[in-house]
Amino acid sequence: MTPTPSTPAPSHPLAATPQRPPRAELHLHLEGTLEPDLAFALAERNGVDLPFADPAALRAAYDFTDLQSFLDLYHATSQVLRTAEDFADLTVAYLRRAAAGGVRHAELMVDLQTHVARGVPLAEVVAGVTQGLADGEAELGVSGLLIAAFLRHRPGSEAEALLDDLLALDAPVAGVGLASTEVGFSAAPFAPAFAKAAAHGLRRTAHAAEEGPAWHVTEVLDVLGAERVDHGIRSLEDPDVVARLVRDQVPLTVCPVSNVRLRAVPSLAEHPLPAMLEAGLNVSLNSDDPSYFGGYVDEVDDAVTAQFHLTRDQRADLAAASFRGSFLPADAVARHVAGVEEWRRSSSESQQPRD
Ligand code: ADE
Ligand code: ZN
Repeated sequence: MTPTPSTPAPSHPLAATPQRPPRAELHLHLEGTLEPDLAFALAERNGVDLPFADPAALRAAYDFTDLQSFLDLYHATSQVLRTAEDFADLTVAYLRRAAAGGVRHAELMVDLQTHVARGVPLAEVVAGVTQGLADGEAELGVSGLLIAAFLRHRPGSEAEALLDDLLALDAPVAGVGLASTEVGFSAAPFAPAFAKAAAHGLRRTAHAAEEGPAWHVTEVLDVLGAERVDHGIRSLEDPDVVARLVRDQVPLTVCPVSNVRLRAVPSLAEHPLPAMLEAGLNVSLNSDDPSYFGGYVDEVDDAVTAQFHLTRDQRADLAAASFRGSFLPADAVARHVAGVEEWRRSSSESQQPRD
């Protein structure tokens, strides 16, 4: 089954979306792209019962008080994903929607432990996502990488065993990440898995300072050797952390709409994005879990552009940062950044946000 995308793909796969820059999406959980309609279609295909009457009732439950209240629903709904075909369909559906909004490269975190714990073979998940990425690239010209996201609320030894299984499968995984419940769970138990990933040439990213304190950023940099930090919004609470992130230009994959929906910040108007830019932090815009938060990355760009009156230059800088912070090779980064610069120059008055 190839699902019908919620938004049509552009008429030509690489058709320009002149109102928005080309960009990479670096902070995206594949399971967080599961739209209610597709969840119900997969539930029916796999004979799984969802505890909601219909897609509208599921969507109506998307009212979150914090990260954990979201994760509980997100893990429960992920149970409809059973076969390689399901994972391929989900991946293609996301890539179609993302491409329509200007995404040219996407790095997809997948919660492999969740699926393996439910009895779905690891090879099945990896094969499905890999097929979806290949199909998406062929159809849309969007490149994609798979990142194995370890679950912070599970033991570090389980993450290491999962990594061993991925290596044994010679799975096409570009990197590892650390996600799930932040507060109350140390990153330290994941040091051996991250060290082994590095030794095998895998790239490393980790969630930190989404709900937790600024020192969580220092922890994932020092203890896990993270090259990129997912969220990092509470870094601003510690000037020393900010100084380090600015000095080393560590990429921060910021998700403003997610932060509002999970109440990490009270409102978009109070989001620290402008302060982060002002401080010189290396920020990109991302959606996190777009189905659940009601915002794909182009919609996130639109929302923050309207809220903070971002200039075309600021939007181009954010888009260029997304490619520079990616795990793509240098020549691909340079090619994509050139595309952003073309967008920056192609300014017309009608495309400028109004003050
Ligand atoms: N997994 C999916 N979305 C997440 C988020 N916002 N924070 C941590 N783990 C996640
Ligand atoms: Zn995330």
